[in-house]
Amino acid sequence: MNWGMKNRISRIIKPETGRCVMLAVDHGYFQGPTSGLLNLSETVEPLLPYADALMITRGAIRNWIEPTADIPIILRVSGGQSILKELSNETITTCIEDAIRINASAITCSVYVGGEYEKQTIDNLSKLVDDGEKYGIPVLAVTAVGKDMAREARYLGLASRICVEIGAHIIKTYYTEDFKKVVEACGNVPVVIAGGKKQPEMDALQMACNAVSDGAVGVDMGRNIFQSDSPVGMIQAVRAIVHEKKLADEAFQIYESSKK
Ligand code: R5P
Repeated sequence: MNWGMKNRISRIIKPETGRCVMLAVDHGYFQGPTSGLLNLSETVEPLLPYADALMITRGAIRNWIEPTADIPIILRVSGGQSILKELSNETITTCIEDAIRINASAITCSVYVGGEYEKQTIDNLSKLVDDGEKYGIPVLAVTAVGKDMAREARYLGLASRICVEIGAHIIKTYYTEDFKKVVEACGNVPVVIAGGKKQPEMDALQMACNAVSDGAVGVDMGRNIFQSDSPVGMIQAVRAIVHEKKLADEAFQIYESSKK
């Protein structure tokens, strides 16, 4: 791995702990004005001091994030579909030159293994990996789950391993029973979990805790943070689990006391 690639990865996955808390706010690229992200800067600014990286699109970053923000960017460069249509029908929406202009620390796309446009999304990933390798920019592959795709270890392991084989540098997938098998399928490639739909805070914290204890290097969490009644308390609690190895109930106290 070249110097630039290693340097960018270490801006995201902190060398002190080998772990990371990514804040995902890229939902608008297929969901439009997602609850909590209508005024994206109002939501994100208080959370930035506690995030190791921000996952976002180029349009959102230019509209709602100050260029002076001190946060590594994981740039969402795929899209082309909406929640109204077949989700797997994605293309690459942002060229590598624009990712470089934005000073992205990583680029990301979704891969829909089992989806109608599976091959197209694997092809998207392979193009990103070629560009990423050329310019020293790591690629985070998201194992997307469409309507009918099973969230279980056999399927997520299959999807994650395909992304590894195509050359992804970081895998983002979903937590599931037997999650260790998914991590094992990825070899030395670091794995983070998505948060998924909003759950009660304690459940989301328990999931984060289970994921890191099963071998994930951290989370790339969105709705379970920014749709919480205390987004700052919630990201602080997630951070305590990921970087300080706190248990879920200890982290829950951090969230609870943030509301006082
Ligand atoms: C989905 O493909 C998007 O990348 C989301 O931003 C991502 O899944 C993380 O967000 P959440 O934790 O809300 O699921």
